[in-house]
Amino acid sequence: MDNRSSVAPSGLRLCSDEQERVFMTTYRITVVPGDGIGHEVMAEARKVLGAVENAFPGLSFACQEFPAGAKCCQETGTDLPEATLAACKAADAILFGAAGWPGLTLPDGTDIRPQIKLRKLLDLYAGVRPIKRYAGLRPVLAGDPAIDYVILRENTEGLFASEGGGARVGEHVAVDSLVITRPGTERIVRWAFRLAGRRPGARADGVRRVTCVDKANVFQSMAFFRRVFDEVARELPGIQAEHAHIDAMTLFMVTRPLRYDVLVTENLFGDILSDLGAGTVGGLGVAPSGDIGDTYGLFQPSHGTAPDIAGKRIANPIAQILSARMMLEWLGETKDDPQCAQAAQAIERAVEKTLADRTYHTADLGGSAKTAAVGDAVVKAVRRGD
Ligand code: NAI
Ligand code: MG
Repeated sequence: MDNRSSVAPSGLRLCSDEQERVFMTTYRITVVPGDGIGHEVMAEARKVLGAVENAFPGLSFACQEFPAGAKCCQETGTDLPEATLAACKAADAILFGAAGWPGLTLPDGTDIRPQIKLRKLLDLYAGVRPIKRYAGLRPVLAGDPAIDYVILRENTEGLFASEGGGARVGEHVAVDSLVITRPGTERIVRWAFRLAGRRPGARADGVRRVTCVDKANVFQSMAFFRRVFDEVARELPGIQAEHAHIDAMTLFMVTRPLRYDVLVTENLFGDILSDLGAGTVGGLGVAPSGDIGDTYGLFQPSHGTAPDIAGKRIANPIAQILSARMMLEWLGETKDDPQCAQAAQAIERAVEKTLADRTYHTADLGGSAKTAAVGDAVVKAVRRGD
């Protein structure tokens, strides 16, 4: 029985048939697959959103695809067309794949990167990168610890403030500057404490904790980041605040990952730590992310376009599917829609179920499953309500 009304963007409407009346909310999702495996993994995430629509009759997604990235730049002269940017601004949420391609670079030699432009243009200052170990994956760390923490990457300043700028002097000198501002630091640190307050507090020692990861022992910018962190932490008691230097943190993430709850850090440090964190739980194929600001939310896997496997249909779609799950969680919070929160949980359970079965492990996880088979398995689990 389909009691869905025709699609109307961002609308809440009462749909009815003879048997029942259901409030239907349609969310406008701007979908930007990007380049390389971005297209392959996005197809699976869209299948899963379709399954969610079937499982939750009150939810629907008006998904529309827009181009961005290296291929788009080659074809149109721009990596982020005006229409794509406008659609990102008009949508309820943005689901992004990955963009960039080796060899298709900007004149300064760097990669095409519309995703980083979008972070700045839409002020997506919180890079939320959950690092979670799913049961059934082959162990990475000794003892196979049940890792579950979040890396919060400041997304708009830090060393990436130089992105698109920096300076090169002739053939001998190149300079990028690291920028830390008080407002930029205060807002990301507040985010970190809010997040720690909401999380289940599943640390081994039962403590809710925010760890400031910096290099305050050497750099003024980092000492300032830590000082602002400490000031905000004093305003927000009840959650333990601590510090770690970035170099030591790379060790701790391997040797005592169960200690961590929320890590907050500068842009480049967060970029690097999130790949390391992903490595400790199975790899980039299972590492989602959200780039979130006060107005917009963009959700994409932590990985790139994987040119080495693109087109082979063996990419792991789980990170993209989990990014769609994060999108629903965010919509649930920002639109105060419990159905979205339930749908997010349904995807999480379906992913858990899928990964518990080695049949559905792609090559990066040591298996031989194809991208589409994994997506189909998640779809089935969502349908069954596993
Ligand atoms: P990458 O993340 O694309 O690949 C690193 C390694 O992880 C490769 O061996 C790749 O095969 C593997 N991998 C990544 N995602 C996977 C998945 N879903 N399933 C299975 N294996 C996976 O990083 P790389 O090679 O540094 O960058 C390639 C291109 O992607 C570059 O042009 C880069 O600028 C771009 N990039 C874009 C990002 C974005 O759009 N957010 C993020 C990182 C890189
Ligand atoms: Mg990265």
